[in-house]
This record gives sequence, C-alpha cells and structure tokens, in this order.
Amino acid sequence: MSATPLVRTATGFFQAQALFAGIELGLFARICAAPATAEEIQREFGLHPKLTSDYLDSLVAMDLLARNGSAYKAGPLTATYLDPRRPEYIGGFLAHNQRRLYPAWGKLPDFLRSGESLVQQLSEADFTEGLYADPTRTRHFADAMDGYAVLLGRPLAERYAWDTVKSFTDLGGCRGLLTMRLAAAHPHLRGVTFDLPPLEPLFDELIEKEGGESDLRDRVSYQAGSFFTDDLPDTQVYIFGHVLHDWADERRRALVNRAFEQLPPGGTLLIYDSMIDDERRDAAFGLLMSLNMAMISGSSEYTVAEGLGWLKEAGFEVRPPVALNELSTLLIGDKPV
Ligand SMILES: C[S@@+](CC[C@H](N)C(=O)[O-])C[C@H]1O[C@@H](n2cnc3c(N)ncnc32)[C@H](O)[C@@H]1O
Repeated sequence: MSATPLVRTATGFFQAQALFAGIELGLFARICAAPATAEEIQREFGLHPKLTSDYLDSLVAMDLLARNGSAYKAGPLTATYLDPRRPEYIGGFLAHNQRRLYPAWGKLPDFLRSGESLVQQLSEADFTEGLYADPTRTRHFADAMDGYAVLLGRPLAERYAWDTVKSFTDLGGCRGLLTMRLAAAHPHLRGVTFDLPPLEPLFDELIEKEGGESDLRDRVSYQAGSFFTDDLPDTQVYIFGHVLHDWADERRRALVNRAFEQLPPGGTLLIYDSMIDDERRDAAFGLLMSLNMAMISGSSEYTVAEGLGWLKEAGFEVRPPVALNELSTLLIGDKPV
C-alpha cells in the first residue's frame, strides 16, 4: 500500500501557503491585469532571483497560472476568483484562512485536550469589542464574509423561489454583499442587511461599488442592531447565513424563536451553514469545519436533523433541505398563516 495519501495530506499546507503568498503579495492581481515574465515579477515584487521561477512554476503546476513561452498569465480559476476587479473575487475569504484559521489549527492538539476556543464562548462583546474594535480587523473580516456572499449569492438567488417574495432581511448579513447580490438578481425584491453598528459604514461604501447606476441603492438598506435584543425588520423572509454556527445551542434556539415571533404569518426563515451530513461522512466542510468553529468560536456546525428540529420546535413548518453548493445547505421554515 502506498503512503502517498498520507504524504499528500501532511504536505497539503505547502499548496495552501503558496496560494496565500500570491494573494498577500498581490501577485495574482498583477498577473490578472497583464501577463508577465519571471524577470518582471522578480523585479516588481522584489523577490529573490533564485526562487521566483520555482514559485511561479509551482503555481502553474497548481493550475493557478498558465505559462505561454516566458510569460505567465492567469489560469481560469485565478482569472475568475483571484482578480480583485471581478465580482467573483474571493481573495479576502481565502486570506482569512491564512490570517485567522491557519495559526489556530497549529494548536489543534492543545485544543483537543483543553477544549478552550480562541474566544471561549462567543458573546456579542466578542464581535463589538473584539473583532470590530480595530478597523483593519473589521475590514478583513468583512472581506472574508464577502467570499461567502460571492459563492452563495447566486445559488441562493436561483434555488429558492423568490418570485412570490417582496422583501427579505439578511440577519447578521455583515456589510451587505449577499443582500445586494440577491436584490440585483431579483429586481422586484427589497432587502435589508441587519447587523451590528460598526459594519454600517462598510455597507455604505459597498453600495457605491455594487449599486452603480442601477436602482439597487433604493432597494437595499442597512439596519443596525442586535438580533438578540432589538426588533427585527418587518419583512416576509429572514435569512440566517453562517450565523447559527457561531453560537451555542441555546442561543441558536433563541434566534430561531425570535425569528418565528417577529415574522408575519406566512413568512419564511432561511438558514444556511456548512452543516454536518446526518451520516457524518463529509470531512472537509462538515466535520472539520465544525472543529474549526469549535476552535475559533467555542461553537460548532450542526446536523441537518438538528437544524430542522430547532425550526419545528419554534413552530415552523419545514421544507426539504436544499444543497446550495458543496459548502452549504439551506433549511427552509414557513410560519403557518
Ligand atoms: C459569520 S458572520 C456571517 C456573515 C454572513 N451572513 C455570511 O453568510 O457570511 C456572522 C455575522 O453575525 C453578526 N452578528 C454577531 N452578533 C450579532 C448580533 N448580536 N446582532 C446582529 N448581528 C450580529 C456579525 O457581525 C457577523 O457579520
């Protein structure tokens, strides 16, 4: 039996770090703008002459760049997702893995023994006084969350029947990219992003970029508040996207119950997260993602059955779960009329 699968797993971080370095250096952005030779890259980025070709050729071998004679250009993945000028850009989301998650995973044995997360049990203060106390961290976090909106905005726009809906609120919608993408995909929709006060200026900044000349800026708005204590906006649909996985069970139940109380009869709650499949077979986005949440936030992912259980307990009628993509599952609960 070959040991290669073990060696590949153990050295998998080489590829992750090669990707992170290209984002951090701005190399992908540069090559997306125009092809370049190794000499040009070495000079422009101040790289070591002996290492530049090896690094660039590694990125070619990883299908991130392509080589045409002596010129390196973006491969299809890079041209789509790593070009900051494009709406599909997810560099901030990938960089979050480097900045926040990679160092935490290096301490996995300690965590497995102590069970102590980076923020022991997530509290509102962790967001407002921790993450959002420093403007650079706030922006990095919002950049990371934008990646989810990029990857999930389209499947959510396509796999849920929005035609009978007039208004929705994205609860914990960060700086609002998902709200903007959903409203852009369905021009009859009005959307509210509901999140904590520090993100409102970033929403205002983003709508300048996403709104363009369209009427989008008239159809989306930001409401600052806490979803635990403040009244929720008066809309037909609420969304909790990657919100329940931040909190312990009793707070998840409290959020689902609040949504039920505040939705109008016939209203709908949509929940999406990287849920654990009920057979507990998916390592990458289910089980290991759950360990990741435990390590970072002291919370976890949860199974589809658990999520449906919270919806039913609150009084919702549930529909069959929908796979949004490989990363996330959508649960749908309707409040009876
Ligand atoms: C993991 S992010 C999810 C962002 C986005 N919905 C997504 O799918 O990527 C959790 C969001 O919940 C927000 N949040 C945390 N506590 C909150 C509270 N008490 N009230 C409103 N939003 C809150 C955070 O500011 C953050 O934007």
